[in-house]
Amino acid sequence: MLPKKLASQMILLVLITLVITVMLIFSVFVIETNDNDVIAKKLNGPHYLKKMASAVSVMENGGGDNNLYALNTYRAQFSINDHPIFAESQMSAFDHKRSQEFRHELHELGGDFKHAILRQLKPMENQFLMILGYFKDQIIGNTLEDHMENTQNIILQLQVQLTDGRWVHLTIYDKTAFPVWIRSTFAPTGLFSFIIIIFAVLIVRHITRPLAELAHKADELGKGHSIKTIEPTGPEDIQNAIIAFNAMHKRILNVNDHRAKALAAISHDIRTPLTSMRLNAEYIGEKDVQQKILDKISEMEQICEATVTFALRDSWAEKDKNFDLISLIESLCCDLNEQDLDVTFEAKGKLAFLGRPTALKRAINNLIRNGVEYGNRVDVYVKHTKEVVEIHIQDEGSGIKAEDRERLFEPFERTEESRNRNSGGIGLGMAIARSVIRSHGGEIELNNRPEGGLDAVVILPV
Ligand SMILES: Nc1ncnc2c1ncn2[C@@H]1O[C@H](COP(=O)(O)OP(=O)(O)OP(=O)(O)O)[C@@H](O)[C@H]1O
Ligand SMILES: [Mg+2]
Repeated sequence: MLPKKLASQMILLVLITLVITVMLIFSVFVIETNDNDVIAKKLNGPHYLKKMASAVSVMENGGGDNNLYALNTYRAQFSINDHPIFAESQMSAFDHKRSQEFRHELHELGGDFKHAILRQLKPMENQFLMILGYFKDQIIGNTLEDHMENTQNIILQLQVQLTDGRWVHLTIYDKTAFPVWIRSTFAPTGLFSFIIIIFAVLIVRHITRPLAELAHKADELGKGHSIKTIEPTGPEDIQNAIIAFNAMHKRILNVNDHRAKALAAISHDIRTPLTSMRLNAEYIGEKDVQQKILDKISEMEQICEATVTFALRDSWAEKDKNFDLISLIESLCCDLNEQDLDVTFEAKGKLAFLGRPTALKRAINNLIRNGVEYGNRVDVYVKHTKEVVEIHIQDEGSGIKAEDRERLFEPFERTEESRNRNSGGIGLGMAIARSVIRSHGGEIELNNRPEGGLDAVVILPV
């Protein structure tokens, strides 16, 4: 329902406010100026009769046409003609009664006019309906003059024959002053809206620009790209959000740095006792016991080293680079082929990607090696759209049970089967792969293929 963008919402708000304000002013105007009652009183009382009587007296006392027209008002217009404009036959009983009053008025002024008659053509229109009618005319493009012509807008006509044989007519029109008001009110309202909308747009842009930058930087950070701190701009609330975001970014960097250093230190400290154990093992007399202990020691050294690699994650030290993801995977598959691993690769074209190539290569390498290790052979293919790229790594093994999938991503987790196979792995491959992919804003999905084997899918935002 509501427009999505902040700018459109603000403009809508301003417009609604303006329309409501104008409607309020409008109704106040209609209530305040509804002078129907006043006009009705004038019409039905002696007001216009008196007016006409004095006009007749002016003319009878030698006044010129100009003196007559000088009596014109907005609603009451005099004219002078050679003929009557309506006949007695067109009058109602009520008109006859009022005509009598009319002649009585004239009589009081000292004249005797047999042909002094009046007729009422229609009742007063409701002023509100009239204003609506005026709006309708405006919309269909009629001018005020058209409006007057098209509508039956004469309420009352009076006519008197002068002694020189000419006729004086007084016509009372049903019209109000509202069109003038509408013009003089709507023009400034339009201008006012225009100015407000311009300011609304400027203010909204002032607000949304830093917000858009914040959203962009948060997205970049989520994809694991290194970002610069954002300059706090815009309104204070948004500046506070930016400052908080910058602080969070700094803390994340500190935590990563701290973790890397701590693990590097631990690995260094463990290597030292391991080395001395290796030296001491030389003194063990029984050769096969000695060999077993030496094997265990080198396994521990391996674990130590792998842990450090995992924790330090070269990915953190590596800088973002633009590279072609498809040729990166292709060259990786070629390398594996050269090591006599059964890996095929299929993808078309190029795919420009921003990320850390060495880390990504390690992650995909781990997944492909797992496929070969636990599923004999691997087919790799890449699908991509403008937004995401999917790298499918499919093997022909027994797949992974749904309940094991999440667990196997944890460091040092392996299935019982693979432990028995003694494949020499330590259970870090998947953990490293997921950590690298997630730091690029992506995810790894594991699906068992219907024809058997695992389909490991790396999904990355482009
Ligand atoms: N393609 C696969 N098919 C079946 N099981 C798999 C597959 N990939 C991984 N697994 C299971 O998940 C476990 C964890 O894999 P992970 O790569 O983390 O460790 P690993 O291969 O045992 O050791 P390494 O750290 O040397 O990679 C494996 O031990 C294996 O049991
Ligand atoms: Mg592995």
